[in-house]
Amino acid sequence: MSRTELAATKRSDLQRSLLAWYAGAKRDLPWRRTRDPYAIWISEAMAQQTRVEVVVDYWARFLERFPTVSALAAAREDEVLALWSGLGYYRRARDLHAAARLIVERFAGQFPSAPEHVRELPGVGPYTAGAVLSIAFDAPEALVDGNVVRVLSRWFAKDAAPSAAQAWAWEVARELVPAPRGAGEWNQALMELGATVCSPRVPDCAACPVAHACAARELGLQAVLPRPKPRKAPVEVELVAFVVERNSKVLLEQRPAGGRMAGLWQFPTVQKSPRGARAAKLFPLELECEIRGGDELGVTAHGITHHRIRLVVQRGTMRARSLPAHWRWVELDALHTWALTGMAAKVLAQAFGRKHRRTRE
Ligand code: ADE
Repeated sequence: MSRTELAATKRSDLQRSLLAWYAGAKRDLPWRRTRDPYAIWISEAMAQQTRVEVVVDYWARFLERFPTVSALAAAREDEVLALWSGLGYYRRARDLHAAARLIVERFAGQFPSAPEHVRELPGVGPYTAGAVLSIAFDAPEALVDGNVVRVLSRWFAKDAAPSAAQAWAWEVARELVPAPRGAGEWNQALMELGATVCSPRVPDCAACPVAHACAARELGLQAVLPRPKPRKAPVEVELVAFVVERNSKVLLEQRPAGGRMAGLWQFPTVQKSPRGARAAKLFPLELECEIRGGDELGVTAHGITHHRIRLVVQRGTMRARSLPAHWRWVELDALHTWALTGMAAKVLAQAFGRKHRRTRE
């Protein structure tokens, strides 16, 4: 679509209506009170796979501990992971850490403002680059996330195959982004509409500031577009996590480098099913060190991309005197300083009925 195809009147009507709405309706999110590119970058990395309401506390703790790029670059990776514990997709935390080190090396710790430099940072894809450049520097850069695809698909009643919808949305987003100023407000307004009004299944058209210009609504297709991606059926997995206690300490094992949740700590866990040769082995079928199972403490559910986990939490006892290399006895009171998996936090809740706090004191 070119600027001529997207009628100038529709474009300016959309911009005016949406921005006026955003000025009055935007959520009071803490990173909206700063123009610090570092703080905005962290918020966008966190918000990519996690709901904004959950991000707020994580963001505040992260910024308190690592207030600058240099502070993050100087940290040990396990401390960065400990502050990320529970957010999932730990690759994001490792990338932030690596990018902070690169910014210190190449840009003396100043978050770069040149688009080509921002795009070179580990973990920074087109969305994050567009977000930080537009919100922190007000550069005329577009962005597209799931919310934006939905909003634009509805405005223009675009019935694209899911595989083509993103590329189409990028084209339109670039058409619509205001220049030379205002891109940051505009991009956030688009995402805000998608997050709070133009929601996936039941959009609240009565509250929508641009309902009058929405082609999907005119055609009665607002609940149908955009077409959802076909979902893969999740793999059902059954696990047992052992809580082995001794002198106010519990036994933890570190997950292997390179795989899922690499380097994070968990209660010793085995996979009970599926066990066949072709089963996805999220967890080992045997522990490195024998643990004898005792009382069942509870059962909880957990999701890891495409896997639906039934997790049995069981007390355990260990005979061996020496520990495998990646196992540790950890003081119960110090658990909150360890980089635990999200699942380990659920085991803690089952076993001790308490919430895992992820702060350092
Ligand atoms: N989702 C992710 N980042 C956002 C932002 N800056 N505003 C609204 N929703 C968002």
